[in-house]
Amino acid sequence: MKFELRNVTRRFGGHIAVNSVNLSIPQGQMVGVIGRSGAGKSTLLRMINRLADPTSGSLHFGDLEVSALRGGALRNWQRDCAMIFQQFNLVPRLDVLTNVMLGRLNHRSTAMSLLNIFTREERIAAIAALERLGIEQTALQAAGTLSGGQQQRVAIARALMQSPKMLLADEPIASLDPLNARIVMDALKDINEREGITVITNLHTLDTARAYCERIIGMSAGRVVFDGGPNELDAEAVRTIYGTGHDGAEIDESMTSTAISVGHAAPVAVASFSVMA
Ligand SMILES: Nc1ncnc2c1ncn2[C@@H]1O[C@H](COP(=O)(O)OP(=O)(O)OP(=O)(O)O)[C@@H](O)[C@H]1O
Ligand SMILES: [Mg+2]
Repeated sequence: MKFELRNVTRRFGGHIAVNSVNLSIPQGQMVGVIGRSGAGKSTLLRMINRLADPTSGSLHFGDLEVSALRGGALRNWQRDCAMIFQQFNLVPRLDVLTNVMLGRLNHRSTAMSLLNIFTREERIAAIAALERLGIEQTALQAAGTLSGGQQQRVAIARALMQSPKMLLADEPIASLDPLNARIVMDALKDINEREGITVITNLHTLDTARAYCERIIGMSAGRVVFDGGPNELDAEAVRTIYGTGHDGAEIDESMTSTAISVGHAAPVAVASFSVMA
């Protein structure tokens, strides 16, 4: 099923955060969204799962008009497109297993949720999700005691418990060291490839987007200014997306990089680009 944004604009007061965006994303694509700070990446992602609403335009998933959903239908949609965040958003004092099972909340009756009763099947599924991400040994630990990389894997396990059709990730590796960044990106790629779940992830390093995403969307000042495969993302495209430094200097290509060395995906020509904020 195809996900579409049709002429989507989001204003905050007089400021246009997302400007007339048209996109069509087929089911199962792995998409990276890049652009400077303030380009509108998070706002775009938040509109897809309706954490934010468009000022004008519409969003569609197959025949479903996502931007028109209300009440229970809206909650179902938010279950269908799970979101993970830079800061993980776990409940730190609860154990890992319970955090993962909370991904089932939208599937259950209110009474069961209020009483925090989980079925045997839900426990088994949560442990299986943790095993898949290689962190089953942390199941009974308080989530807040885990490393950042482990916490992000718990967040992905929780997202999997929603049985999502799309997985949205807002800078999922921005707080992680290179090794953990790689583990988390490998996990997202694996979910994309094995389950055919569409993954849309905001990334702030080009090398990661190039290595993991089959399609890269570049945003600048709310608009989509690039949409293509990693091989098309040449130096000129990068300038279009990021512009030049504020003093007019060219983009520094070596400043930051996640330094992920990818095993399964061939890195493309230029190792990394970055931009002075
Ligand atoms: N709730 C809000 N109220 C007012 N302005 C907002 C709000 N959310 C976002 N904006 C503005 O919209 C623009 C786009 O913000 P957004 O967070 O989408 O950018 P971003 O590309 O995700 O940036 P970053 O890389 O720093 O995360 C910015 O100018 C931001 O200040
Ligand atoms: Mg953002």
